[in-house]
Amino acid sequence: MNYSIAVIPGDGIGPEVIAPALEVLDVVGDTFGHIFNYAELEAGGCAIDSTGEPLPASTLETAKQCDAVLLGAVGGPQWETLPGNLRPERALLGLRSGLGLFANLRPAALLPQLRDACPIKDEVLAASNPEGKPSFDLLIVRELTGGLYFGARGRSSDGTSAFDTETYSKAEIERVLHSGYAAAAVRRKKLCVVDKANVLESSRLWREIAQETAKQYPDIETTYMYVDNAAMQLVRAPGQFDVMVTSNLFGDILSDEASVLTGSIGMLASASLGSAGTDSEKGTVMGMYEPIHGSAPDIAGKDTANPLATILSAAMMLRYSFKLEKEAAAVEAAVSAVLDAGYRTGDIARRDGKKGEEKIVGTKAMGEAVIKALEG
Ligand code: NAD
Ligand code: IPM
Ligand code: MN
Repeated sequence: MNYSIAVIPGDGIGPEVIAPALEVLDVVGDTFGHIFNYAELEAGGCAIDSTGEPLPASTLETAKQCDAVLLGAVGGPQWETLPGNLRPERALLGLRSGLGLFANLRPAALLPQLRDACPIKDEVLAASNPEGKPSFDLLIVRELTGGLYFGARGRSSDGTSAFDTETYSKAEIERVLHSGYAAAAVRRKKLCVVDKANVLESSRLWREIAQETAKQYPDIETTYMYVDNAAMQLVRAPGQFDVMVTSNLFGDILSDEASVLTGSIGMLASASLGSAGTDSEKGTVMGMYEPIHGSAPDIAGKDTANPLATILSAAMMLRYSFKLEKEAAAVEAAVSAVLDAGYRTGDIARRDGKKGEEKIVGTKAMGEAVIKALEG
């Protein structure tokens, strides 16, 4: 089958991590008999430089016509002084809301090969793991098109005060909870709603709606936790979590925190999805796939960025948008194989000093290793 993918490399390390992901997709296409057509589009800082806008209308229009979107990262210091609505990051918000992608799935699991890159002690990890193993496997489901990111904001006329508002409707909360429950149903059947219901009215609505919605899922254990405690529990006992569902801002922060437990933010992939009802005739489901990290200006252009989060995001695209489970699993197995063979980018280098057991490589070489593993 033919699949069309809107590819948005973006800024900083964005293009560096997108290149190996596309090469991996090409090999998947050759091996399994699919054709992936790429429409390369501009968004973010590079689009500001060439068109004056972070998200040109043509980018969103073309993205809508494709089967899925693969994005690197946007932003950088050269665009930091622009007014908020003209900053590169606005492109992400425009794509997410323009494509109706309200549920952002951010899986964070500790791969056994990266045990030595995780900063938490064995006994601490094992204490909360259901099987007593020094490991964890959780999924953050972040609401992506509402909350503080999309509420009214502004400044007083003299510029000395500013506000941002968090607004959530029942419908917005319900639909992302359903996405969370759908994920929990095929995992360990546990769902934790993370909020700040002891202070925020919007969080109290979240909790009320969650308590109602939970009744529809009697097979899934629903729990509730305040976000400050959740941030602490993530490092104290990550094994207690299966699916965590939370608001836009809380999910953003907790997923960066969780990424460190997996070894590095360079490992964390994500899928942004809308309602299941958006399936096309072809059987594809629109989604946007991106690593959770940013454009990493400090390492851009150095060929040191970890491309695995982007490669794993491409695997999520195969799974969720194209329903190509075998192909997605093959990419994940190839990543696993290169880690088994000791390949590491600097961010996932061993922390235990056993340096002889790893091969530190750059972005391109890591991509090549994954392709070799994929070609078997
Ligand atoms: P960042 O995620 O870009 O970088 C944080 C730290 O993690 C840096 O030290 C960086 O070198 C490291 N890092 C990130 N990705 C890595 C990778 N693949 N391999 C190895 N190391 C990696 O966050 P930041 O510095 O706060 O933001 C930089 C810019 O990126 C800002 O303009 C921000 O708005 C933007 N941003 C964009 C996205 C996105 O496009 N999805 C996400 C987050 C931040
Ligand atoms: C992310 C990023 C974005 C977000 C920014 C760059 C708008 O941090 O994808 O996690 O906060 O959603
Ligand atoms: Mn973020």
